[in-house]
Amino acid sequence: AEEVEIPSRDWSFDGLFGTFDRAKQQRGLQVYREVCAACHGLRLVSFRNLADLGYNEEEIRTIAADYQVEDGPDGDGEMFMRDGSASDRFPPPFANENAARAANGGAYPPDLSLITKARADGSNYLYHLLTGYQDPPADVEMMDGMYYNAYFPGHQIAMAPPLMEGVVDYADGTPATVSQMAEDVTYFLTWAAEPHMEARKIMGMKVILFLLIFTGLLYAVKRKIWADLH
Ligand code: HEM
Repeated sequence: AEEVEIPSRDWSFDGLFGTFDRAKQQRGLQVYREVCAACHGLRLVSFRNLADLGYNEEEIRTIAADYQVEDGPDGDGEMFMRDGSASDRFPPPFANENAARAANGGAYPPDLSLITKARADGSNYLYHLLTGYQDPPADVEMMDGMYYNAYFPGHQIAMAPPLMEGVVDYADGTPATVSQMAEDVTYFLTWAAEPHMEARKIMGMKVILFLLIFTGLLYAVKRKIWADLH
């Protein structure tokens, strides 16, 4: 497939001082839960991690309890289902890859935990993939069960357009346009792939600052020690 140019958008998490945006991440969580989670897992994220998005313990327990997770074996050696708790991870939508493919016309919806890292320029790619569905150009013959997408490599993707205007009802009243939901879920999944990004960037600045001061100090000490020798 030919290379597709991915346009860049402005993200609050870009750059040396980039930070996340909790309102957008919370809306993105809602999009993931109500839309993407029907087909895509998020197996590396635990409910307790949602504290990063500003939820308190009570809210996290409520979210977790919406899910059924597999546990066991019990005393009889049987696996069983129970309500999710804060220490559980998001349960997968399908039992295994074969079941996932069977439900999706043979295509495999990848786990989204690390998707913004697994694809080049992942955050920009994800946003444009979600907003990039179009009518195929006249000279393109579409394969069965495929949808034309301007940004998917090869342009034919087995994922039907997942976002339709108004498909979620945002708790904070933000209008749920396709672009808004795509942006919000990109914020959420960028955090999921690198939850410690803010701490990493702050640490980076501290290290550089320390090295600058330390360099100045060493230079001053060097001048003092060798002062008698010119
Ligand atoms: C593929 C995201 C909803 C089914 C993908 C890919 C991403 C993605 C990033 C990988 C594209 C690539 O390989 O570069 C999302 C997001 C969703 C969503 C963020 C929610 C907003 C859904 C839903 C379904 C679905 C609801 C099922 C009804 C698939 C399938 C593939 C796929 C089957 C594999 C496509 C192929 O390889 O041709 N999705 N998805 N997705 N998704 Fe989704």
